[in-house]
Order: sequence, then C-alpha cells, then structure tokens
Amino acid sequence: MQFQWYPGHMTKAKRQMQEDIKLVDLVIELVDARIPYSSRNPDIDELGKNKARLILLNKSDLADEEQNENWLRYFKELGYYAVRLDARNRGGMKAVQAVIEKACKEKTERDRKRGIKNRPVRAMVVGIPNVGKSTFINTFAGKACAKTGNKPGVTKGKQWIRLNKNVELLDTPGILWPKFEDQRVGLRLALIGSIRDEILNIDELALELIKYLMKSYPQLLKERYELAELAGEVKVLEEITQNRNCVKKGNEPDYAKAAALILEEYRSGKIGRITLESPQNI
Ligand code: G4P
Repeated sequence: MQFQWYPGHMTKAKRQMQEDIKLVDLVIELVDARIPYSSRNPDIDELGKNKARLILLNKSDLADEEQNENWLRYFKELGYYAVRLDARNRGGMKAVQAVIEKACKEKTERDRKRGIKNRPVRAMVVGIPNVGKSTFINTFAGKACAKTGNKPGVTKGKQWIRLNKNVELLDTPGILWPKFEDQRVGLRLALIGSIRDEILNIDELALELIKYLMKSYPQLLKERYELAELAGEVKVLEEITQNRNCVKKGNEPDYAKAAALILEEYRSGKIGRITLESPQNI
C-alpha cells in the first residue's frame, strides 16, 4: 500500500489518535526497521506521554542486523521498550508478549498502590501507513483471541481483543502521518515504496539508492548486479541497464526500466538486508 497525505487527513488522524490514546495504558508503536527515524512521527511522544511505550522495529527481516541492534539500543536508551520483529511471523510474538507483560507489571503495581485491582492493561497499535500494523494485530492476536465487544464506559464502537487475562488490545490501529516536510524523510519513504511512484522521478530515486548503496553496501550492489567496479551512480545505472538487458524499441537502452527494477529489488529485499539510516546520521 502506498499513501498520499493531505492536511485534512492529518488533522483527522490526530484527533482520532487523541481520543483513542485516552483509553489505553500502553502504546505499541511500529516503525520500519529500514528507516526507524523517517517512519516515525515524534508527535506521538506528546500524544503518548504518561503512557508505557513500546517500539517494534518491524520488517527487521529486510533490515541490516547490525543496524537493528544499533536502533534497539538507541530506543532503549531513550526510555522506550524496544523489540525487533517480522510481523508476519508468529515466532517473534513471544518476545513482544514478554515485553508487554513487563510494561504491564509496572502499571499493575501502580494500580495496586492506588487500590485498583484486576483491571486489565489496555494497549493500542500505532504507526504510519504500511509499517505492518494490521499484519501485527492479526499475527499477534491470532484467531484464538476473543473480541470483548463494547463495554460500559468505553466509547461506543471500540472493539477490544483480549490477549490474556491481563491485556486487551484495541482492534483498530492508530494511523500516524509521516513528516514530509523533511526532504530526506520523503526520499527515504519513497525508497522503501511508501509514497506513490507516479509522483516521483524514478530515475532520480534509483540514482539516490545506488549512491547510498555505493557508500554503505558496495559489496551487495556489486554482487547483485555483477559489477566489476563502482564508478559513479550514473555509470552503475548504465551498467545495470546493460547487464539486465533493459532495452526499448529500436534497441535503445531503457534506463527507466532498469531504475524501476533496482527499486523493486531493493524493496523486496533481493539486493540484501539494507538499512537506510543509522542513529548517528538521522
Ligand atoms: P499497515 O496496516 O501498517 O498499513 O501495514 P500492513 O499490515 O498492511 O502491511 C503492509 C505490507 O507490509 C504488507 O505487504 C505486509 O505483508 C508487509 N509486512 C508487514 N510486516 C512485515 C514484516 O515484518 N516483514 C516483511 N518483509 N513484510 C511485512 P503486502 O500485503 O504484500 O502489501 P504490499 O507489499 O502490496 O504493499
């Protein structure tokens, strides 16, 4: 899914988020592990203050493992709980469950001191479009979990999924809006395929990607496209066009086709596990 945002969307999304967040104790925020900074919206820090906070580094299967470690450390140092994840995979959910339990314990303890007993902890999932929110809710909650339906005192229409006797999850995720104002953020969102390609210049985007790969992952680039040397991004694009036999009518080289191919291969992980930003260069 690719998205386009307008100011009206953002105002509506923000209002909805403000309402929903009042109902929960724990905010589970998904970010894309390939761009953990650019796929966040820091407004969530203001909206979610006084709540327990968990960041899931999702699509970590597509990201560089060393960078996954760096980002986890970075978020933990800032005081968030943080876990890496492939939301499509049930296996990773144990670690999430364990962290939720931990976050809940503190909350239950606080409740107990205030004389509140046996109130389940409520959580909600938030994140910008396409980070894997629905996938996570489906995998995590699974089919086994019963929906608890509307309850007195809860805004009408809200559905809660009971995960266990201590935890309930809001079944619809909160949608955050990306920070388009920052050009680097826009570029990185485009590279992972979260902004419509039609509104972008594919050739330029591919050249940006090649430039980044030449600097940060030269070996992966060389191996994937059988390149002997990396003599500038334009040269590399030309060589890939040739190596992959991208031609149009009249046997002319088809650079646009090669550019689209590189972007597709990056997004689907075929070039390798590649992270586009590190905590040191955001
Ligand atoms: P959203 O609710 O936040 O908008 O995201 P959603 O769950 O719809 O997930 C978006 C796409 O990302 C889906 O691909 C989903 O399968 C994929 N995805 C989610 N989590 C992971 C993960 O941890 N690793 C990988 N590799 N992929 C993940 P899709 O249905 O094929 O959509 P699209 O690719 O056609 O956009």
